[in-house]
Amino acid sequence: MHIRGFQPRDTDELYRVCLRTGDAGEDATALYTDPRLLGEVYVGPYLALEPQAALVIELDGVASAYALCAPDTAAFEAACAATWWPPLRERYPLGTFPAGSPDDELVRTIHDPPRTSPELLREYPAHLHIDLVPEVQGRGLGGELIRTLLTQQARVGVPGIHLGVATTNLRAIGFYEHLGFSTLCVDGDTTVMGLRLTTA
Ligand SMILES: CC(C)(COP(=O)(O)OP(=O)(O)OC[C@H]1O[C@@H](n2cnc3c(N)ncnc32)[C@H](O)[C@@H]1OP(=O)(O)O)[C@@H](O)C(=O)NCCC(=O)NCCS
Repeated sequence: MHIRGFQPRDTDELYRVCLRTGDAGEDATALYTDPRLLGEVYVGPYLALEPQAALVIELDGVASAYALCAPDTAAFEAACAATWWPPLRERYPLGTFPAGSPDDELVRTIHDPPRTSPELLREYPAHLHIDLVPEVQGRGLGGELIRTLLTQQARVGVPGIHLGVATTNLRAIGFYEHLGFSTLCVDGDTTVMGLRLTTA
């Protein structure tokens, strides 16, 4: 298994990786009626708008892990607002799913996506997501994916990177701390962690 760049044919498999890890690191398949919706929110925009930053690991020919990154979060959110969310809003009007269901929460996110605070972006303008299906977890590959991504982002001059992780996902928080990230704030159910990058 080795790390390679994203290819468009990976898209459906990476949406499945997202669903299989989408409940604070555990399988979210049973939570959602629509199996693509989680990927449309948390994976699709990165593949469409930042494909050069997306890294993939295959297991037996199936894309089984990804690390995704937006080097400039403010620009990424603006691009999502211009091109990614509008067609999704047409496909998923408010009220598509029962009020309060997990699918409904994602549809609300599509219609009113959060914006990252400018204070956070001053020092940590980039952000990332990483998910590995259970078959490839715990083998050092997540660390390899993150280190590769951080090296690439430092090389292009990104000064700092942040991420959001479910506060209950203690395994992932320990993983990020091990890799040098520290907690910047806790915002509801989400812990925001950051790392300054240097090119030295
Ligand atoms: C969290 C996740 C990305 C970690 O990837 P992984 O491949 O399982 O972790 P690795 O085996 O690469 O571990 C990398 C390093 O971190 C260390 N580490 C892993 N988990 C740790 C923990 N909870 N506490 C301390 N160190 C930890 C490992 O010992 C290893 O150290 P080394 O490189 O010095 O040998 C992966 O398990 C995963 O995708 N989980 C499900 C989805 C998820 O939670 N995603 C994050 C959402 S924000």
